[in-house]
Order: sequence, then structure tokens, then C-alpha cells
Amino acid sequence: MGRGTMFMLLCLSAMSMVVVRAEDPYFFFDWNVTYGTISPLGVPQQGILINGGFPGPNINSTSNNNIVINVFNNLDEPFLLTWSGIQHRKNSWQDGVLGTNCPIAPGTNFTYHFQVKDQIGSYFYYPTTATHRAAGGFGGLRVNSRLLIPVPYADPEDDYTVLIGDWYTKSHTTLKKFLDSGRSLARADGVLINGKNAKDDGKDEPLFTMKPGKTYKYRICNVGLKNSLNFRIQGHPLKLVEMEGSHTVQNTYESLDVHVGQCFSVLVTADKEPKDYYMVASTRFTKTVLTGKGIIRYTNGNGPASPEIPEAPVGWAWSLNQFRSFRWNLTASAARPNPQGSYHYGSINITRTIKLVNSASKVDGKLRYAINGVSHVDLDTPLKLAEYFEAADKVFKYDTISDEPPTTTDKITVVPNVVNATFRNFIEIIFENHEKSMQSWHLDGYSFFAVAIEPGRWTPEKRKNYNLLDAVSRHTIQVFPKSWAAIMLTFDNAGMWNLRSELTENRYLGQQLYISVLSPARSLRDEYNIPENTLLCGIAKDLPKPPPYTI
Ligand SMILES: *[C@@H]1O[C@H](CO)[C@@H](O)[C@H](O)[C@H]1NC(C)=O
Ligand SMILES: *[C@@H]1O[C@H](CO)[C@@H](O)[C@H](O)[C@H]1NC(C)=O
Ligand SMILES: *[C@@H]1O[C@H](CO)[C@@H](O)[C@H](O)[C@H]1NC(C)=O
Ligand SMILES: *[C@@H]1O[C@H](CO)[C@@H](O)[C@H](O)[C@H]1NC(C)=O
Ligand SMILES: *[C@@H]1O[C@H](CO)[C@@H](O)[C@H](O)[C@H]1NC(C)=O
Ligand SMILES: *[C@@H]1O[C@H](CO)[C@@H](O)[C@H](O)[C@H]1NC(C)=O
Repeated sequence: MGRGTMFMLLCLSAMSMVVVRAEDPYFFFDWNVTYGTISPLGVPQQGILINGGFPGPNINSTSNNNIVINVFNNLDEPFLLTWSGIQHRKNSWQDGVLGTNCPIAPGTNFTYHFQVKDQIGSYFYYPTTATHRAAGGFGGLRVNSRLLIPVPYADPEDDYTVLIGDWYTKSHTTLKKFLDSGRSLARADGVLINGKNAKDDGKDEPLFTMKPGKTYKYRICNVGLKNSLNFRIQGHPLKLVEMEGSHTVQNTYESLDVHVGQCFSVLVTADKEPKDYYMVASTRFTKTVLTGKGIIRYTNGNGPASPEIPEAPVGWAWSLNQFRSFRWNLTASAARPNPQGSYHYGSINITRTIKLVNSASKVDGKLRYAINGVSHVDLDTPLKLAEYFEAADKVFKYDTISDEPPTTTDKITVVPNVVNATFRNFIEIIFENHEKSMQSWHLDGYSFFAVAIEPGRWTPEKRKNYNLLDAVSRHTIQVFPKSWAAIMLTFDNAGMWNLRSELTENRYLGQQLYISVLSPARSLRDEYNIPENTLLCGIAKDLPKPPPYTI
């Protein structure tokens, strides 16, 4: 089938779901996912490549673009990708997690089709199956503003994606075996920047170049497995302009703490002595600090980067203060990430408070992680398919946990964890971390207002400390040890949405849940019909299709 025919067919099938505007362009990608040998820390190991690359290709898009990615799984295991932070409005069919999609079987393919909306910013995609993220398969994803909507800064000279993350030299199958046998992952072996780590001799090829006097945008995402990372560039301050789809107040920082799953955009001006400089990402809150480096070169430069690496901050109070300095730019003229106008979120009445406490404990002698005492397990039938095919009762129970955590979360039950949210309710979610370790939470399908992080335990009186004016609307929030965080959002995007710990070990061993947001109307205004190419598995293979949603 030719590109033209495919284009026509896709347009037709898109039209049967929803009226598309003729001016919204389509971009098609074929991705071949394979194993390949990589040696990012000098040790050859099995990597997951996309079209031969590690990391995978960058997706460069503009709001309202239709992105069509045909993913061919040439691994020997089922595989899925998620587009972390892309809201997929009315379209959790494209979310790429095991609660919404059947995995792509080895030797087969699946075509994702989604439209990016006015979420101008920096994102990344990654595998959600097994521990595949530990081997690669991730890459950058950016959504640019349409020309008619200006961004609150001058066009940078160039725009660079910087994927930082901790790294293990053990294969993803070995790491998975550790977790399956009830053990925890040991500490990471290093930190990578775009799949590499520059040596101390200054002789590596530069990752990026800058022309003297020009300003560049760097989009930094933490794609790692568990470590918060501090990011900095020798001698160059970072002017923060965007965070997970929101324009921020443009404060300048010497370094930024980027917790797992988070993305920041900064502007950097090449106004220093023309030579090479290191960009540095180092682990936070670890006894042994692991450091990854990459070289930035001035085009008129003559000289290697200094081996002296700027110091990283110590302790998490610094990081908490940095979080508190993040503000949404309320006057930026760009489109709002939330078209429902809920950016006056401070004056909306809270209809429900859900308090989530994370815990870790042994079940049958094996380590599990839980939320309010429940450790999620994926089933053969994705929850979303069970619900759509009106067979939810055969597969899972709603409201596995209650909005108040049990007094002790030491006893863990292993079942699918599904919370039922009423369509369009404005809900407050409190994440309370009683552990001594960092936590990082992410919600699919939405941006939320990250209104507070504080040490200690949450009580209703703490609401008076919330930022109810200009908290950043984002999709990931960290929680420091023995601390809590609060977010607020309107559940106006119908679908089945994954709320997960971004820490791979925690997520894989059950620290995630799904929020079912059903539109009672079963209307196309609220949710798209199941796409024709949806993979079916479990009991969904043999069930009759319910009547499609209508306008
Ligand atoms: C994908 O990569 C594999 C291994 O390199 C190769 O055998 C296969 O032909 C490729 N498939 C496509 C569709 O490019
Ligand atoms: C990305 O897309 C934008 C707008 O669509 C375009 O201006 C820019 O040149 C593209 N950048 C790259 C690196 O392709
Ligand atoms: C697999 O790829 C073919 C084109 O090579 C496409 O026609 C088909 O729709 C894809 N399958 C799925 C499930 O998306
Ligand atoms: C916010 O955005 C406006 C409008 O684009 C811009 O002029 C202003 O400098 C930004 N404010 C801050 C504090 O970054
Ligand atoms: C919010 O609640 C207050 C007190 O219960 C009530 O007076 C007010 O009308 C409510 N506001 C909205 C927008 O519903
Ligand atoms: C979930 O909530 C929706 C909206 O309140 C309701 O219609 C539905 O019956 C609930 N489902 C279950 C199984 O509780």
C-alpha cells in the first residue's frame, strides 16, 4: 500500500472517529524495534534500538499534528511504548500501557495514531513492558507552538534534546529476574547523557555545538530507572522556560534537579570563553555519586573542557526550595494546556480528596510495592478493553482502594488497582511518602496543578499553604522522603488512565493504579471509539463489539 493510499485510509478512519480539520497535517513513521549491542559504559550489552538507534529518534511535532507511528516489534518479548505526558484527549486507546493496550507480540506490529494538542513543550516516550526501559527504546518528543501562537522568548538558534538517566550494565532480562525473584535492583553503574558518557580527558566528540553569542534551547528529561539527577553546564546558567508543557516564570538556575520522568526546557547563551564545556548529570541522595558527562563545543572554540566539574547541591531541602521557586507564567500568551479554563483552579471547589500512601513489603517472601496497601498486577485482558466490551466485572473490581489509606500499609494485597473517578470532577490527590527514599509520580492523560510539597504528614489544614495562584501545570511530581505532595485537577478526559511511580522497580512490582473516567453519555464528544486496528487479547478476543459511541 502506497503512502498516498495509507494517508487517505487513515484520514477516512480518523474522520469516522471525529471530524478532523483538513489543515491538521499527518506525519508517518515506521519504527523497527530490535536488539543490538551497545556499550555506553564501555561494557558491551544488549540494547533496545529503534531503527538502529539508541536512544530512539526524536519526534518533532507542532500542535494539532497527527502522529502515526507503526511500531514493528522485532524483540523476542511483547512490547509497548508510552508517550509520557501527551494527553491523548478522548483517546486512552493510544496510551501504550498494559491496562489500556494489548502488548505488541514479537514479530508483529501496531500503529499508534494520536494528535498532539496545545501542550507546547518537551516530553519523551519509553517502553512500558517488563524492564525494557533499562535497555533503551526511549527518545525525545517535542510539541512546538503554531506560528500564530507566540512563545514567551525569542526563537533560539537551535533546539537540543538531552536525555539523562542512570544506567545499569546488566541486561534488562537480568534486572527483571532480580525483581521477579523478589529482590531489589542494586545501585546503578553510571549515568548517561543521550546514551553516552564522556571521559575525563576532554577528547570525546561534542554532543552539541554553540555559535558564540547565540542562545540555545536544551530540553532535559530524566529517562532513568530510579535516581533523581542534578543537571548543570560548566560556567553557563540555565534559564528555565518550560516544564512538562507549561511556560514557567523564567528564573535562572546554576543547576536543576530533574527527578525520574520529569522534563525541563532551559535557554543557554554561549557568552563565555570559546572552548569546550561539560554538561553534567549526577545522582542525588545517593551515598556514591554517579556522574555522566557530555561535551558542548563553541564553534569558534579552541580548548578542551576543564576537568573541574561544578559541585552538585547536597541534601533534599535544596531540591524542595527549588520546587517552590517554580511558577507558571500566567501572562504567557501561549495556549493553555488545559482548555477547560480550569487554570483558575484556586477557586474551584474540591469534590473529592484521594490520599495515596506508598509502601513496600514482602508478599509470599517477595518484594512488592503498593499504593494504599494494594500492589497492582497486569492481567491478560487490559482493563480498558474489559470495560469497553462491558466485561469489567469478569476481569477486575472498581475502587480496589479507598480514598483514605489503611492505618497500616504493611499488609499488601496483589490485585488490579482501579479507582473510579466521576467525569469532570475536580479532585485533589495527596501523595504521602512514609519511606526513606525519593518517590516520583506520573499521571497519564492529564496535566495537574502541582500545588505543594512539604515535609511530614498531610492534614486538611495544610491546604492553606497550597499555591492556588500560579502552580505549574505538569504531569509528574516528586515526593521527598517522609514528605507529601498535593496535586489538583479536573478529570475531564474520559478514558482509563495510569497513575504510576516513575521508578521502574516500584512500577514493575505494583506501585501503579488506573483511574477509570467514564463519560456516562458514551458519546463521541467525550471519547473516541475503539480504533479499528486495536490489538485484542485475553477475553477481549472473543467478545462481541458493543455498539459504537455516537455524537
Ligand atoms: C528490522 O530490523 C531487522 C534486524 O536488523 C531486520 O532483519 C528487518 O528487516 C527490519 N525490518 C524492517 C521492517 O525494516
Ligand atoms: C521542528 O519543527 C519545527 C516546526 O515544526 C521546525 O521549525 C524545526 O525546524 C524542526 N526542527 C527540527 C530539528 O527538525
Ligand atoms: C501493521 O503494518 C501494516 C503495514 O505494514 C499496517 O497495514 C497494519 O495496519 C499494521 N497493523 C496494526 C495492528 O497497526
Ligand atoms: C511571561 O510571559 C510574558 C509574555 O510572553 C513575557 O513577556 C514575560 O517576560 C514572562 N514573564 C516571566 C516572569 O518570565
Ligand atoms: C464552593 O463552595 C462554597 C461553600 O460551600 C459555595 O459558597 C460556592 O458557591 C461554591 N462555588 C462553586 C463555584 O461551586
Ligand atoms: C463509576 O462511576 C461512574 C460515574 O459516577 C458510574 O456511572 C459508574 O457506575 C461507576 N462504576 C462503578 C463500577 O462503580
